[in-house]
Amino acid sequence: MAENSHEKMLAALGVTQAEQVAALFAQLLSQATTELQSANSAELFEKFRVQWLGRKAGVLTQVTDNWLKPATPDLKRAVGQEVNKFKAQLEALVEARKSAIESGAEEAASAKDRVDLSLPGVVRPVGSRHLIRQVLQEIEDIFVSIGFSVVEGPEIETPYYNFEALNIPEFHPVRDDMDTFYVEAQDGFGVKTAPGSLLLRTHTSPVQIRTMEKQKPPVRVIVPGKVYRRDNPDATHSFMFHQIEGLAVDTDITFCDFTGTIEYFVKQYFGPSVKTRFRPSYFPFTEPSVEFDVSCIFCNGSGVAAGGGTCGKCKGSGWIELFGAGMVDPAVYGFVNYDAKKLSGFAFGMGMDRLAMLKYGIDDIQVFFQNDVRFLKQFP
Ligand code: DAH
Repeated sequence: MAENSHEKMLAALGVTQAEQVAALFAQLLSQATTELQSANSAELFEKFRVQWLGRKAGVLTQVTDNWLKPATPDLKRAVGQEVNKFKAQLEALVEARKSAIESGAEEAASAKDRVDLSLPGVVRPVGSRHLIRQVLQEIEDIFVSIGFSVVEGPEIETPYYNFEALNIPEFHPVRDDMDTFYVEAQDGFGVKTAPGSLLLRTHTSPVQIRTMEKQKPPVRVIVPGKVYRRDNPDATHSFMFHQIEGLAVDTDITFCDFTGTIEYFVKQYFGPSVKTRFRPSYFPFTEPSVEFDVSCIFCNGSGVAAGGGTCGKCKGSGWIELFGAGMVDPAVYGFVNYDAKKLSGFAFGMGMDRLAMLKYGIDDIQVFFQNDVRFLKQFP
């Protein structure tokens, strides 16, 4: 408080006439108004209230004690009226300020809690299907459209399904090419499986056997899935990759049905302009066995690269090896109680990663499994 007039007696303030009294109170009121304006928090407001309206030592009490009570009879009436007026004005001011402060605090609190619906939300990237998954879908669609269904089998296999029932006996040299991962497992009682009794499947072919065991002919299935080999990683090898197996068995399936089906698939997948060819090959579970080639999609089968020189993709041959296939070896039917005299069929096993790499121009199989978003994003 700048001036403490209320602490002095009227005489000391030079007030002797009734006319002087109003001005004295007007000044006090303007002082109160100014001070109250800067009381902008609940604490400052309370301090002000005590200072001016406090019963013991508030300004109003002092004005009553110092000005009114000792006033001379000439002044008493005027001072009394002004005190009452001042009291009412001061109380009105305080009341108004009090509600202003309260509603301000409320507003601030509700502004803090308010949800701004116009703010943009948190954008979480949705991601997309992996290219291998997309290619699998493409391949499935083609085969499903010509009457095949999709089945799956276990990734941990027994040597019987992975080898023996596919006409690969224990000491057959072809097992050496498979570089197999044998695994040890425990049964529910903690008893370990015998060494060599379980393995990570080296191909999807065991599901041929599992399907024929479960189902009577006719059979028309494709089998997508992961397979494992003890290969060192490089641009075309990975210890885990994907295959799609195919199997069709019925009473009258010929080599023509086989080639027609495969050619249909390849032209659907790569486009109608590709050419196809078979080369003799060997697999224990097919007879005859073939290796299936497609005309090089990079040089259109010419063997010459776009900028001249030898095409690096087909090494100038104009052909790219796609997958192995053949007519099901009658010996295989013996393992699943199919009548080899009445039945015939064909089978094939394609590398899905390889098919994806050829179609989408990817030259390193490793990028499929490295989870680099810069690569994955290119195939939304
Ligand atoms: N299972 C063979 C491999 O992984 C591929 C294969 C070849 C599958 C000929 C077949 C087939 O069904 O008939 O190398």
